[in-house]
Amino acid sequence: MNQEDRIDQSPAWQALEAHAGEMREVHLRELFATPGRFARFSREAAGLTLDLSKQRCSDETHALLLALAREAGVPDAITRLLDGERVNRSEDRPALHTALRLPESARLEVEGEDLVPAVHATLAQMQRMVEKLHAGQWRGATGKAISDVVNLGVGGSDLGPLMVTHALADYRPEGVHEVQVHFASTMDGSQLADYLSRLNPETTLFVLSSKSFTTIDTLSNARTARDWLYGRLVCSRGDAGNGAAADIDRGLVMRQHFIGVSASPEKMSEWGIAEPNQLEFWEWVGGRYSLWGAIGLPIALVVGMANFRGLLAGAHAMDQHFRTAPLEDNLPVLLALAGIWNVNFLDIRAHSILPYDGRLEYFAAYLEQLEMESNGKSVTNHGEVTPYSTCPVLWGQLGPNAQHAFYQLLHQGTQPVECDFIAPMRRYDRVEDDATRAHLKAQHRLTLANCFAQSRLLMLGDDAIDEDGPRPSHKRYRGNQPSTTLLLERLSPTTLGALIALYEHKVFVQATIWGINPFDQWGVELGKQIAGETEQILASHQGLERMDESSRGLIEALWAAERK
Ligand code: F6P
Repeated sequence: MNQEDRIDQSPAWQALEAHAGEMREVHLRELFATPGRFARFSREAAGLTLDLSKQRCSDETHALLLALAREAGVPDAITRLLDGERVNRSEDRPALHTALRLPESARLEVEGEDLVPAVHATLAQMQRMVEKLHAGQWRGATGKAISDVVNLGVGGSDLGPLMVTHALADYRPEGVHEVQVHFASTMDGSQLADYLSRLNPETTLFVLSSKSFTTIDTLSNARTARDWLYGRLVCSRGDAGNGAAADIDRGLVMRQHFIGVSASPEKMSEWGIAEPNQLEFWEWVGGRYSLWGAIGLPIALVVGMANFRGLLAGAHAMDQHFRTAPLEDNLPVLLALAGIWNVNFLDIRAHSILPYDGRLEYFAAYLEQLEMESNGKSVTNHGEVTPYSTCPVLWGQLGPNAQHAFYQLLHQGTQPVECDFIAPMRRYDRVEDDATRAHLKAQHRLTLANCFAQSRLLMLGDDAIDEDGPRPSHKRYRGNQPSTTLLLERLSPTTLGALIALYEHKVFVQATIWGINPFDQWGVELGKQIAGETEQILASHQGLERMDESSRGLIEALWAAERK
């Protein structure tokens, strides 16, 4: 790449650097001295309100950031992404999670093929499975209706469905056969062992979710689950010819107790997943972007297919907004630019995600993968080391609980941190009992009061309250921590879909500006290889001499403990 093609050498970047020199000295309270800031720095789309007024930006910052987005070719990149060009360069394929949420009437021709019919055929197949389970007609090998479904998957094959099923648990359809959905991801089997100790094998079905169908974490859990079922269900039950119950063989167990979800039908078949139980998706859907299709089966099972389609519709509304809204009103672009400003110009490299709604308990964990696995990169698309920072360290927790945990650091620590506050405006409207509804609504109001108070205190510091005289130094709040607030009309399938799509697109815009590929994850591969080699040493007790001193010491300590 030529020096002049580097984004940090562009006039827009240089202008931002010069401007940042001045802005670093400006406190947020000074920016709020000019009225009209909320109106100028907040936008609405797809049921979401985005308030960026508490970012350390002036009108000039905003204009310069928009110029940077134009200089980096963001408008063109958006079109290329949504039109299915091969934006995932290192793997030479498109990144078409947005195709999974296109309505049936749409067409998306990519390299000569309209993708929409296949997407909707998979949705129809999911619907048939969900309806069968909800009708109590999906029976285990002994004839009893399935009552528990355990999703075995990790990373994108776990975090998205886990987060959404938790967030939308209020949207369970009524009047259907009850099916409890559980998640087991950890390779050590601790979650699975717990389920196996309390679930009934006769009524338990496993969804084996793995895009690659090679992930050892998931396959280890799957093998344990399969053997648990074989051990408890496979039996000979006499002469089936006289009307008595038939034998239960391994094939029957596989057909009645396993669904597979993967981009590799061959590997699903090799593993023994019956063909009608195979749900497919495509290589052009990244793992962490995959909850919108077959990987979303647990979501559809919890909320029903109509609500699952609502989730897709909300995400599609955000996709449309992303494609058509001018940059200055485009929510994903604006959110991305706020992050770029903090990371690259104000040196704020920590980002906290703080939902003020218990249903969003897993949202931060989901975003940790989405943002850090996508943009935790230090090599550009041209193979050069990025001379600037990329993805910040991102972590989070439910805001109200985090207030009693790490907010101390946000308010008085030494690290500058960008915070995202997320909350629904309305809640509990449908609680039937009047007294309980009134109490819960008051709790919701209390939660919003805390949300608004915390972002205000982070912004203003001591100036947030009227007090006479200075406070002692250990009680002082310096403020000036930037934050974004995102309000949802209410937490529903459509607004949640829009919220997730907003962050997906934010990640893409940032990657475009940084010149990196957000759709690969080579940084996780070598660890898997080395773990495989290490496991061989642990199992065979051979080859320890190849290890470094620390690893040798740890392994020897382990062997000594095992000998005790
Ligand atoms: O190891 C990282 C990763 O490949 C993620 O990108 C992915 O979401 C996860 O593992 C699970 O992968 P798979 O769905 O192929 O099992």
